[in-house]
Amino acid sequence: MKTHRIIIDTDPGFDDMVSILLAFASPELELLGICAVAGNVPLEDTARNALRVCELAGRTDVPVFMGCAGPLLRDQVFGKYANSGGLGGDLLPEPALRCAEGHAVDHIVKAARDAAARGETITICAHAPLTNVAMACLMGGEEFVRGVERIIIMGGAFEALGNRVPWAEFNVYADPHAAAVVFASKIPVTLFPLDATFQGLLTPERLDRIRAVSGRVGEVMEKLLKIYDRNDVARYGQEGGPLHDPMVPAFLLRPELFETVPAWVGVETANPESAGHTYCDFFGKLGRKPNCDVVRRVDSDGFFALVTERLAAYGPTQRGETQ
Ligand code: RIB
Ligand code: CA
Repeated sequence: MKTHRIIIDTDPGFDDMVSILLAFASPELELLGICAVAGNVPLEDTARNALRVCELAGRTDVPVFMGCAGPLLRDQVFGKYANSGGLGGDLLPEPALRCAEGHAVDHIVKAARDAAARGETITICAHAPLTNVAMACLMGGEEFVRGVERIIIMGGAFEALGNRVPWAEFNVYADPHAAAVVFASKIPVTLFPLDATFQGLLTPERLDRIRAVSGRVGEVMEKLLKIYDRNDVARYGQEGGPLHDPMVPAFLLRPELFETVPAWVGVETANPESAGHTYCDFFGKLGRKPNCDVVRRVDSDGFFALVTERLAAYGPTQRGETQ
């Protein structure tokens, strides 16, 4: 079994929570740390929510680091659930865990440089505004680049247009300059735009299957989806909401579920009326070297079968106990 040493950069958030739980339940992934960044909600909330998820999963062994509290340059924007704390208010208890000492960016840089020194690499799983990752690219230098095998990103939108605003997907919209830095970093990138994540709708039937096997985790997911209604039948054509972030670790677990094409991706940074807009040169019109492998097709049933299978780790044990 190929194992991947990963860092998750995150702004929990419902789908971030599911992604972290999926990673915890997958022995192929060795988590070197969880790095919180401002995004869906302010940094204090994303860090607290990351700690809550670690406690929900019983994984107090993985350090959570606090990262950047705001975007590189643009004014700060949050997700639409910012005033609720982003993870259901007091649905999960105040964490007893505390964040690790040190800044998330320093942790990301050190982990990559240490890997490079051993002739190894890490993979960065980024499903939040890319502020931490961009700062690591800017500060880390050649040793950092050598130590990062790939950055797998949930972000951007092409045919799917935007979500937080009509012209942009939230993670890129919240920090377009950071996205531009990462796209220019020369580190291999796999990009999950909304075009891909909209193919992964968490329908009521799929939620029922997850709920049936995943104990307290499934219960929390069900309760959160009652608080945060992610349905948009007019947009998605059926009930359910996109499960964006878990596709990022899923790519490492079952890459065959996803079809990608190499392409050059750009991001608008200057105009406030279009900042965060991403565009993709799918047909090589600009003659530029591709900077991303863009996910175009998702085997949705295979993806949810993987998520359900792995989240069953949180269900009743053989001895009938539940977590
Ligand atoms: O646009 C979807 C992205 O924005 C997801 O990562 C979600 O968690 C929010 O951060
Ligand atoms: Ca996220």
